Amino acid sequence: MSRIFSGIQSTGNLHLGNYLGAVRNWVQLQHDYECLFCVVDLHAITQWQNPADLKASTREVAAAMIASGVDAKKHIIFNQSQVSGHAELAWVFNCVARLGWLNRMTQFKDKAGKNRENASVGLYAYPNLMAADILLYKATHVPVGEDQKQHLELTRDIAAKFNNDYGVDFFPLPEPMILGTATRVMSLKDGTKKMSKSDPSELSRITMTDDADTIAKKIRKAKSDPDLLPDSEKGLEDRPEAANLLGIYAALSDTPLDDTIAKFAGEGFGTFKQHLADLAVAKLGPIQGEMTRLMDDPAYVDGVLKDGAERARALSEPIMAEIKDIVGFLNV
Ligand code: TYM
Repeated sequence: MSRIFSGIQSTGNLHLGNYLGAVRNWVQLQHDYECLFCVVDLHAITQWQNPADLKASTREVAAAMIASGVDAKKHIIFNQSQVSGHAELAWVFNCVARLGWLNRMTQFKDKAGKNRENASVGLYAYPNLMAADILLYKATHVPVGEDQKQHLELTRDIAAKFNNDYGVDFFPLPEPMILGTATRVMSLKDGTKKMSKSDPSELSRITMTDDADTIAKKIRKAKSDPDLLPDSEKGLEDRPEAANLLGIYAALSDTPLDDTIAKFAGEGFGTFKQHLADLAVAKLGPIQGEMTRLMDDPAYVDGVLKDGAERARALSEPIMAEIKDIVGFLNV
């Protein structure tokens, strides 16, 4: 059986990178897989969150999933803290993963920055919890953006070491699915930096709650360069902003990058940005409208999460019971 697990942190507004790198692919994949989509609030607190904001953001991320087209009846949308198996299995994996493995994680280095001594232990052990998320359901496929690739390699290492240490063939080695033309959407203000929630500049990212005027303004103000757009992919070398904006157009319009380049070859940024803004508004506007409607009905969103958590618990409890038995925890 093929089962998908993927997650998003509830640390603020979702942005275009989250949508193109993850959620949009989930909407396609849900036709062919059994899926669990998780708002990872345990991961969110690896860096301090205002409690009221965390609750609001958890609802908002769930609303974004529903508004984007995830079918919450057929599949499972839930928040991680409601299923205790995630934390329990993460502890087991804290004892399986090696310090040397975690020391190599580039995301920890980026997030901890210069002040490593002051980073939370949770931030360091973050990838073990992510492995637990996936393996608690024996998920086989994990659709994510490119930045999660290293964490998924670690997940496979943990699964293999657990199987080996305990002499079992218990966990599958999950496959990353890094799909589409926008697996790494870059900042609108600097084409060499990843679009991220933590960038202090609002103009660096388009969020799922931006209205049409804001989306158009952010695209108009996006960094560009003085040259006309090229007629081949080779012409995008050393032009990170042009590459990023054309990549976003290709992804939003569901056309290959080559065709997008051909369409705008020889145009200036002014004309191209107008087309991109129209496209982004046409694609994101309806999702934003639906999100606003859902945010006005928090009881509905909470109901979806509650139902999802119950179903996630039902799937994970027998697997966690087997894990405890394999590890040797006495069941009294
Ligand atoms: P998070 O919350 O940072 O991002 C959620 C998803 O969005 C993708 N993404 C991007 N894709 C393209 N361009 C970008 N600029 C961009 N920024 C983010 C991410 O790759 C991700 O797919 N650790 C994960 C959450 C997580 C998880 C899991 C994912 C926890 N447990 C288990 C998969 C399976 C994270 O922080 O994603």
